[in-house]
Amino acid sequence: MVRVCSVHDVPDPGALRVEVPTPSGTVAVAVVRDEDGGLHAISDTCSHQAVSLSEGDVEGCMIECWLHGSAFDLRTGRPSALPAVHPVPVYALAVDGDDVLVDATADIGPAAEAR
Ligand code: FES
Repeated sequence: MVRVCSVHDVPDPGALRVEVPTPSGTVAVAVVRDEDGGLHAISDTCSHQAVSLSEGDVEGCMIECWLHGSAFDLRTGRPSALPAVHPVPVYALAVDGDDVLVDATADIGPAAEAR
């Protein structure tokens, strides 16, 4: 896991785009705080078109893509509505003091096996 930001950098609720280094290259990740204060890490790239999910609105435990409105579950990566039909990767996140740590080397979402 690598430090990506401080807990204070993440809007409440809202999202922050970070670039996470991995052995196979840099991964764009959205660190998202849901409306209950929980932190999540998902791919920052919408599965419908290549736009940044961190620019969307957070509602409950979902983040809504600003371009066409598909909302993705922050726990599973699954979209709740069209036009997106494929889930986005979900990454492991931990908090150590004020530091947010993310492991973007593996998709840990429950839908990962289907991809
Ligand atoms: S680009 Fe995200 S729903 Fe279309």
